[in-house]
Amino acid sequence: MNQSGRARTPRIAALLGLAMAASASIAEPVPPTGPHGAMALDAQQKRLNQLVTASTAPPPGIDPVAWASIYVPPGNELTADRIALGRKLYFDVRLSKDGTVACATCHDASRGFTDQRNVSEGIGDHLGRRSSPTTMNAALFQSMFWDGRAVTLEDQAKLPILNPIEMGHPDAASAMAGIAADPAYPGLFQKAYGRAPNYDDLGRAIASFERTLIFLDAPFDHFAAGDTKAISPAAQRGLALFNGKARCVSCHMINSSNPLGTDNLFHNIGVSARKQNFEALAQQALGALKDGSDVDALDKLALQTDMSELGRFIVSRKRGDIGAFKTEQLRNVGITAPYMHDGSLRTLWDVLDHYNKGGETNPYLDGGIEPLNLSEDEINDVVAFLFTLTDTRFAAQNEAAMRSQQAQAAKKRPFRDNALAHREVLPFEQRVLGPAGLK
Ligand code: HEC
Ligand code: HEC
Repeated sequence: MNQSGRARTPRIAALLGLAMAASASIAEPVPPTGPHGAMALDAQQKRLNQLVTASTAPPPGIDPVAWASIYVPPGNELTADRIALGRKLYFDVRLSKDGTVACATCHDASRGFTDQRNVSEGIGDHLGRRSSPTTMNAALFQSMFWDGRAVTLEDQAKLPILNPIEMGHPDAASAMAGIAADPAYPGLFQKAYGRAPNYDDLGRAIASFERTLIFLDAPFDHFAAGDTKAISPAAQRGLALFNGKARCVSCHMINSSNPLGTDNLFHNIGVSARKQNFEALAQQALGALKDGSDVDALDKLALQTDMSELGRFIVSRKRGDIGAFKTEQLRNVGITAPYMHDGSLRTLWDVLDHYNKGGETNPYLDGGIEPLNLSEDEINDVVAFLFTLTDTRFAAQNEAAMRSQQAQAAKKRPFRDNALAHREVLPFEQRVLGPAGLK
């Protein structure tokens, strides 16, 4: 656990004059008190009570017909009992072999339902290869994981429990034996699904709980509904850039019928090109996948080997998918740093710098990624817009994150003359450009 981080964060917040105890919305930062740097699970549950209700009604912002026909699968209709069981499981460390990791460890209610690490830490302090995406609004994705290897929330929930470096149960029977230590479960499963505890219903219940984690009420939505003061002039300029010169809209279209801001497709935007020899890895992956591959095998490749960086390719085995990852949602992006599948970008300014220089050149780079020529002011405007996509329930947390990111970004941007973005050259760029490129 990072003791210095614990002491430092409140001081920064104090320097910035931030209100630490906000009224309606939840303030950041929170000292980690649970294992693996997460907030203690009982404290997280209290936060959750402030954030969501266990409502079985279609969430506001989503078409009720689409909710019932597309987002909630037949056979797992939402009921209060299913949500309650799923919630208990989401916070239960017995789902991990060593009793230190719950879903909520890596998808922490006090940290934007992620862990704010670049890659996740599971049992035995093992680090995986990918950054934990938020579970907020995951119910609205067309596929799960950065490479889409699970299709439904129900299927997804059963994988981390059996992954050796995440929760580490050797098989479903071991996981079910783990939770059997709590005598409440048989009655709860009976109420939820009318039968004895079993692994598939466990996945269904967790999915039901995740369907209550819908966070789509952001200042941007108020603006889109006609409140012209809901977002700042800078953010309004940023929105125009997002839809125009910055070309974000081609993959992150965001509107009422497409609320997440993702095309649900996979693109190589050059994030993993920084460190990988794609050709050699692709050959290695084809070899590893030769004898057919079940979901558990794919899960291990994605989380425990260098082949992780091949992204969608390990699922589709199409060359065009090498280094392609799912277009991440932009909802609540202010509070879910660090960014990208490998957590390699710490601030939204870093994200804009990545796109502004045309991503990272590689043979599989998506055609939609080109140098953008955004000025420093234009970058600030797009970032201001991105911070308006965070749900109002996290207003204080979002504000604190913005100031903290701004302070981090400012260190890399000494020139504020509205010339093209000046910033620190990252180590991988140095490698590519050589010393001559460092101007
Ligand atoms: C050790 C940390 C860790 C634990 C424990 C964990 N997850 Fe995750 N979760 C991750 C990481 C990392 C990913 C991304 C992996 C990938 O894309 O290959 C992920 C992906 C997901 C996604 C997909 C979201 C998206 O945007 O595609 C969902 C949903 C999810 N986890 C829910 C859960 C649930 C439910 C549990 C408990 C059963 C759980 N996770 C346990 C780290 C964790
Ligand atoms: C060609 C499609 C495409 C375009 C254009 C695009 N993105 Fe992305 N975006 C993606 C993909 C794919 C990812 C995930 C990539 C990865 O992790 O390797 C992503 C990730 C992100 C993330 C990280 C989210 C997170 O939680 O980790 C942010 C923020 C983002 N994009 C913002 C933008 C902005 C702002 C623009 C315009 C300047 C933009 N994107 C343009 C496809 C695109």
